Amino acid sequence: MVQLDFQSTTNQKPTAMADKLKSLNDLLHEQLRDLYSAEDQLVDALPDMADEANDPRLKQAFQLHLEQTKNQKARLEEIGRGMNLDLDGHTCKAMEGLIKEGKDMIDEDASDEVKDAGLIAAAQRIEHYEISGYGTAARFAEQTNNTQTAELLRQTLQEEKDTDSKLNDLAESYINQKAM
Ligand SMILES: [Fe+2]
Repeated sequence: MVQLDFQSTTNQKPTAMADKLKSLNDLLHEQLRDLYSAEDQLVDALPDMADEANDPRLKQAFQLHLEQTKNQKARLEEIGRGMNLDLDGHTCKAMEGLIKEGKDMIDEDASDEVKDAGLIAAAQRIEHYEISGYGTAARFAEQTNNTQTAELLRQTLQEEKDTDSKLNDLAESYINQKAM
């Protein structure tokens, strides 16, 4: 993973952000709001993805991740309370786009197997986005000595990584073969 040089980013604030984001703490707050919106949108989207999945193991993986995602959203709420931050009121546009791509896949007139492979591709894009977001936020939390927050973010980060590798295994072991 690429490690940003946080020290230099805090010393040289990009002008576009300078008004709003004055410190690494502000940037952490911004990242947490973005992740909160991402999880919130996913809680709504995952039931549709589970409904559309044909392979029972994929369906089950989406259902399990829905429960995890609800828990991850609650974890962010806990972080918000702990740090006295309001995480509401922001829309993560990247997640909006990723979910829309997943929905487009659902609407495609494809065979069951091809649709499953496409759903996995969409879900893995989502996981990779979240892995990147949680990795950055956890790092920011550590750098700003928000130890408890960092710990909670790392728990979610691990869950996202596990989900990604589970999807990978499903795609590799079975679904991509069937789609050929
Ligand atoms: Fe998540």
